Amino acid sequence: MWATHAPEQGVHMKRLEGKVALVTGAARGIGAGIARAFAREGARVVVTDIDLEAAAVLAASMNVDGMNIVALRHDVSDVASWKTVIEQVDRQCGPLDVLVNNAGILVVQSIAEMSLDDFRRVSAVNTDGTFLGIKNAFSSMGVRGGSIINLSSIGGQIGAANQIAYNASKGAIRLMTKCAALEAAALGLPIRCNSIHPGVMLTPMTQAHYGFGAGIGTESLFNAAIPAGRLGTPEDVGHAAVYLASDESAYVNGSELVVDGGVMAGPVRKPQLSQE
Ligand SMILES: NC(=O)c1ccc[n+]([C@@H]2O[C@H](COP(=O)([O-])OP(=O)(O)OC[C@H]3O[C@@H](n4cnc5c(N)ncnc54)[C@H](O)[C@@H]3O)[C@@H](O)[C@H]2O)c1
Repeated sequence: MWATHAPEQGVHMKRLEGKVALVTGAARGIGAGIARAFAREGARVVVTDIDLEAAAVLAASMNVDGMNIVALRHDVSDVASWKTVIEQVDRQCGPLDVLVNNAGILVVQSIAEMSLDDFRRVSAVNTDGTFLGIKNAFSSMGVRGGSIINLSSIGGQIGAANQIAYNASKGAIRLMTKCAALEAAALGLPIRCNSIHPGVMLTPMTQAHYGFGAGIGTESLFNAAIPAGRLGTPEDVGHAAVYLASDESAYVNGSELVVDGGVMAGPVRKPQLSQE
């Protein structure tokens, strides 16, 4: 049976104090937002990315106040890379408590344009990468337990034109999350697994694909369709991830946390119906 979370009265602990957390694809965007939020809450953070140089720059910028943030090269689609990273985390930081499967790629292409190789390239990073993360976290966390957080998307809940590979991968991540939560419970392992479903967030990924910041006015089109009236930020996702990583979410498992400024709640405005 899982322990209940009972915060001690009068003792101010940071919310992730004493936890070792690995965030994949953390050199920029949402991953970097999550890594920063984890460090603020006292976690020992390992930032991994296929782009080690950028990950090292981020880690250096976070290494203040005696924090020791580690940057590692990591290709989440590669079995051997996972083995090396998990061994290094164990050696340098101690056993893993939190894994965020954040690394992901977006390919925007029509079905007619998309080749099977393009489809598989997206699946390799998003789907295989998350599967390998869950698999490695299970063996690393084992009976000590921990929290696995998977970055799905609102695109894992609804479809979108020109995003068949991406949305398929995000739908797979949504259900792999629930399978992992149930399998850990069946094995008696105190490992929780939850998914986060961001809406449209301002990151290098969306800047590249939707032209945000390029002076072509796409932000205002998106803002008008978002109940919150603005794009999301990596910090918005960072706050959600801190909750799922912390013991405050001890009773939250297999769940979907939507961070989308209200998009999935329904249309922004009611259609103006003429009075009969
Ligand atoms: N930005 C959004 O609006 C949005 C919305 C919903 C979900 N998401 C998801 O959030 C996650 C982060 O998105 P983002 O917008 O910050 O993306 P981003 O492109 O800005 O950053 C992704 C990071 O992943 C790294 N990466 C790519 N392939 C990798 C690999 N094989 N192994 C390791 N690292 C790799 C990149 O180098 C980069 O640093 C993704 O899974 C994405 O699908 C993003």
